[in-house]
Amino acid sequence: PPIMPMAIRFDHEQLTLAPAGPTLTRRMSDLEGLFRDEAARAAAAAGENPVVYTVTSSPVPEANRELPQSITTIMPGTTSGEFWMTKGHQHPDHQGEIYLAITGRGGILMFDGEQTSWLEMLPGTIGYIPPGWAHRSVNTGTEPYAFLAVYPGGAGHDYDWVVEHGMGKRAFRGPDGSALLRPFAE
Ligand code: PA5
Ligand code: NI
Repeated sequence: PPIMPMAIRFDHEQLTLAPAGPTLTRRMSDLEGLFRDEAARAAAAAGENPVVYTVTSSPVPEANRELPQSITTIMPGTTSGEFWMTKGHQHPDHQGEIYLAITGRGGILMFDGEQTSWLEMLPGTIGYIPPGWAHRSVNTGTEPYAFLAVYPGGAGHDYDWVVEHGMGKRAFRGPDGSALLRPFAE
């Protein structure tokens, strides 16, 4: 059946959607090979295996011409100084995407294969991801960082692209606590 117009309630305290679609939970064990210090990541995964982020979707399906949304919540933390982050992906057909920061403090690391871009995300900031830019979200604060994503339903998630090309830079906690970008492979 076609999707009917709908109002989706966003709970600002619980960071939930109602009605909700699927929720995805990514723990340290799901992030193999993504942090600079893989040994530290593996040790954390073998230990408490903390939740690094969750993604709660609305019921709008990931289908062509639809505009699904989701709330990503990244926990605060670092692995050998590298801020906790999402896996990061490219959209196979290079479709754009919009993020709206809701709570906490974070950033969007973007990479088009040549250039890296870093957008600071504070509550109220709309971050625009243009076509062809792989994107990874980073929690640079001490509280959970949550944002709304709105994306073309057919956009897809190419995670292998990031494994193959990297993200150009990595975000570490600097001496004053703020984000320090360093070359990806350094
Ligand atoms: O559509 C998006 O870009 C986001 O909803 C992400 O999928 C979400 O933040 C999780 O990141 P990733 O898919 O890279 O694990
Ligand atoms: Ni995306």
